[in-house]
Amino acid sequence: MSRLDSFIRRLEAQRTVLNWAADTVRDRDGLVLEFGLGNGRTYDHLREQLPGRDIFVFERDPHPNPLSMPSAPFLVVGDMAQTLPVFEREHGAAAALIHVDVTTGVPERDRIAFAWLPAQVAALARPGAIVVSGWALEHDALEALPLPAGVPDGRYFAYRRAG
Ligand SMILES: C[S@@+](CC[C@H](N)C(=O)[O-])C[C@H]1O[C@@H](n2cnc3c(N)ncnc32)[C@H](O)[C@@H]1O
Repeated sequence: MSRLDSFIRRLEAQRTVLNWAADTVRDRDGLVLEFGLGNGRTYDHLREQLPGRDIFVFERDPHPNPLSMPSAPFLVVGDMAQTLPVFEREHGAAAALIHVDVTTGVPERDRIAFAWLPAQVAALARPGAIVVSGWALEHDALEALPLPAGVPDGRYFAYRRAG
């Protein structure tokens, strides 16, 4: 498979998973948290899928497409290792949906660089919340869910916050 094919399949899987996650939480209370603004594509998709919803985006270096810049109160700038604990102190376990799309850019390093992240995700998620991630999150409170049809195992990851 060419890298172009692989890239397209990854984005198709991401869209399928985000649509499924948005459908699942549409009628539930709770915040939506996006970890990693990047170009703003998935943020833009989530706000289109969940209009009117409070979506907080966490990013250390926000330079998205200008059309996808979150408004000031919903953009939390800084290293998530620092900003997420502060957000947790302010909001508690308030999220109905968390999308983890943060990376060092080197997949092998992510597991080490973000070893603290699964526990932080579990702390921010309401019981029953949906968590979707580009890489596997290992935490006792995060129960793996089957992926929506058409998404191959290992291409994306989905969890339910236990409790
Ligand atoms: C793969 S990109 C996100 C792509 C985005 N979801 C999109 O669809 O355009 C990952 C982002 O995570 C950010 N990031 C990486 N480590 C971070 C950290 N420790 N704290 C905050 N942001 C971080 C990077 O700056 C980058 O913008």
